Amino acid sequence: MTGEIDWGHLPFTYMKTDYNIRCYYRDGKWGELEVSSSEYINLHMAATCLHYGQEAFEGLKAFRGVNGKIRIFRLADNARRMQASADGILMARVPEDLFIKACIKAVVLNKRFVPPYGSGASLYIRPLLIGSGPKVGVSPADEYLFMVFVTPVGPYFKEGFKPTNLMITRKYDRAAPNGTGPYKVGGNYAASLASGKIAKERGYSAVLYLDSREKKYIDECGPANFFGIKDKTYITPESNSILPSITNKSLMKIAEDLGLKVERRHVLLEELETLEEVGACGTAAVISPVAQIDDLDTGKSYVYSKDGQPGHYCTLLYNKLRAIQYGEEADKYGWIT
Ligand code: COI
Repeated sequence: MTGEIDWGHLPFTYMKTDYNIRCYYRDGKWGELEVSSSEYINLHMAATCLHYGQEAFEGLKAFRGVNGKIRIFRLADNARRMQASADGILMARVPEDLFIKACIKAVVLNKRFVPPYGSGASLYIRPLLIGSGPKVGVSPADEYLFMVFVTPVGPYFKEGFKPTNLMITRKYDRAAPNGTGPYKVGGNYAASLASGKIAKERGYSAVLYLDSREKKYIDECGPANFFGIKDKTYITPESNSILPSITNKSLMKIAEDLGLKVERRHVLLEELETLEEVGACGTAAVISPVAQIDDLDTGKSYVYSKDGQPGHYCTLLYNKLRAIQYGEEADKYGWIT
């Protein structure tokens, strides 16, 4: 059946695979991992995930390496980030070893869906944690369900590694200052849907959000982190409402090794004028180079690529990251499982 999949042209969308993994937290402890071939779950209608947003998820990828072996990128980092998200909205933490075991099991059981080396595609792993116990008063659930499903994917932004356009609007915020912005919880993504729809309708791939308190600083870039390059420096915003992207963390390390300086700090909106290259990065987006950013409120445009090609440093960073992920280059960082 996988013989019919066009690996080289996969969209970023859900495709049914053979199995998924589930694990229940009841009476204060996690149970055994269960394997299911059903795409559905049985849920209490008063489950807190349905009413009070007790839901967190992760996104990571498995790659078919150059030697045919399957490689999962930064598994433990994703486990720890899901624990931070669980803490942020008072859910039971998934122990790191349980998270790792569940992801590996989901990949191994669906290994025929890991795209072949050379296709440019990967197997996206989506772990999620939900409050499954019933409550009507606003309080955390007593029971939780942790699941992992996988789906083969191509690039998140349809352009792939081709420059894309972003828009700025001050009419929407993604996350409140001191809110849930740094956690990978569904509510942040719900808050981005209406503005994301406007972006797509106008031909942009995402909204570049400004900080929601003052609208002075660059915050997050739709479902990805923002970075810019200037004077041989990799610059990425520091803010307590941004998701700590594991891809961004990896790019900072790679940038350093490429001889770039790395600055994680507030990035003023005005600074967009001075950046030489701009990119959006994340597990799904990998690196999406940015051609142009249009500020819809002021009418100002910032142009980074005039010829439709990605910039020098975006290309170097992208190639290096992909080479590690696909095993073309030694993993000196210990990022691969
Ligand atoms: C990711 O980069 O893995 C994301 O979570 C982005 C998106 C698909 C929600």
